[in-house]
Amino acid sequence: MKVLAILLTGILASAVSGQKCNGFAALCTKPLNQVAFPGTHNSYAVGSTASANQNFNISRQLADGIRMFELDLHLKNGVVELCHTQCDNVLFLDAGPLSSTLTVFKSFLDSNPGEVVIITFENYDNVPAATVAPLMSAAGLTDYAYAASAGTTTWPTLADLISQNKRLIVFTDRLVDYANYPWLMLTTDFFSDTFYIYWNITALNADCSIDRPSGVKLPLLSVHHAVSTPVLGTNPRDPNVVYVPAVASVATTNSYSNILLHVATCQNVGYFPNFVRVDYYDQGDIFRAVDAINSVEGQRDGGYKTTANTTTAPAAASTGTGTSGTVGKPGGSHSIRVRGLWEAINALTILLLAVTLTFHA
Ligand SMILES: *[C@@H]1O[C@H](CO)[C@@H](O)[C@H](O)[C@H]1NC(C)=O
Ligand SMILES: *[C@@H]1O[C@H](CO)[C@@H](O)[C@H](O)[C@H]1NC(C)=O
Ligand SMILES: *[C@@H]1O[C@H](CO)[C@@H](O)[C@H](O)[C@H]1NC(C)=O
Repeated sequence: MKVLAILLTGILASAVSGQKCNGFAALCTKPLNQVAFPGTHNSYAVGSTASANQNFNISRQLADGIRMFELDLHLKNGVVELCHTQCDNVLFLDAGPLSSTLTVFKSFLDSNPGEVVIITFENYDNVPAATVAPLMSAAGLTDYAYAASAGTTTWPTLADLISQNKRLIVFTDRLVDYANYPWLMLTTDFFSDTFYIYWNITALNADCSIDRPSGVKLPLLSVHHAVSTPVLGTNPRDPNVVYVPAVASVATTNSYSNILLHVATCQNVGYFPNFVRVDYYDQGDIFRAVDAINSVEGQRDGGYKTTANTTTAPAAASTGTGTSGTVGKPGGSHSIRVRGLWEAINALTILLLAVTLTFHA
């Protein structure tokens, strides 16, 4: 009787408090592996150059509702930096020290106690766990980081993670040290990552092949939802193929219907799409699509922004007039011309770069 009373009090308390987890009451009771998180591809790669994948920085992404982030680790003069491909080449993109970006996550988690955030590192320069971990501690993030056991299928609910204040989930693609840093978790112990190079939306939506680890089904799934334009080579499976994001069609790629069509291809082969990562998340309907996967569509605080004119941003967003939620219907012809030109310039830059690299190789 006493137990029942305590239980009832608990239920009543959460009902009265109106607790929300990542913005939705309905997500509180779901284990993390049954929740879909809106994510960005190369979250740090912001700007208007050929090596950018986003219009807005990570603090804006957090404020807008992105909850899954991908950070590429490189070493530059002994400092761990976030760079696209290379740090030392002006044609690529150097987003500065990892330590600066970690402070952005720290202040977000401090001021948003009901939010769970996921970071995945792609550790290109084999930075040891013993180097990454002190940066996390210095930023004040280690206490937030949750440690799961490799391969687990029993994750805590979002409400559990929130009440334990373990609201940061950190993955890396190599060099873990579970004995010393159990919260730094190897991606291939936890999630499958879909293939990531497609030249058109039809090919993208029809496929859910797993690239990392090749063909292996793990308990969680990360869906890479992006269309690219080839620059050198045309076979997406050729390891030497060079490509840029297909910026002209990004609002269509990221439309509600296209995201859900692609995700359905994965659901049809038995996956739950935990992480849905896009380029230029401000274009299209990533939030509404992910909310639909979570069965909370329409319940997001502040509603959904229309695809086009959010704020002035470099590259795609500045000229965007893409139509939200429609398949095969990109923005007006003017914006296509402008964006197409931008894409062509990017393609040229990358081509020059490829030639330069070949010369120097
Ligand atoms: C991030 O972008 C916002 C505008 O979207 C800007 O106000 C803010 O200063 C930027 N933060 C950093 C660290 O660059
Ligand atoms: C779409 O792209 C795939 C490769 O990603 C290619 O095989 C296919 O022919 C393309 N389809 C069209 C209609 O261009
Ligand atoms: C933004 O988009 C809406 C809907 O397409 C349109 O009515 C409005 O004029 C646009 N605003 C700007 C500043 O472009």
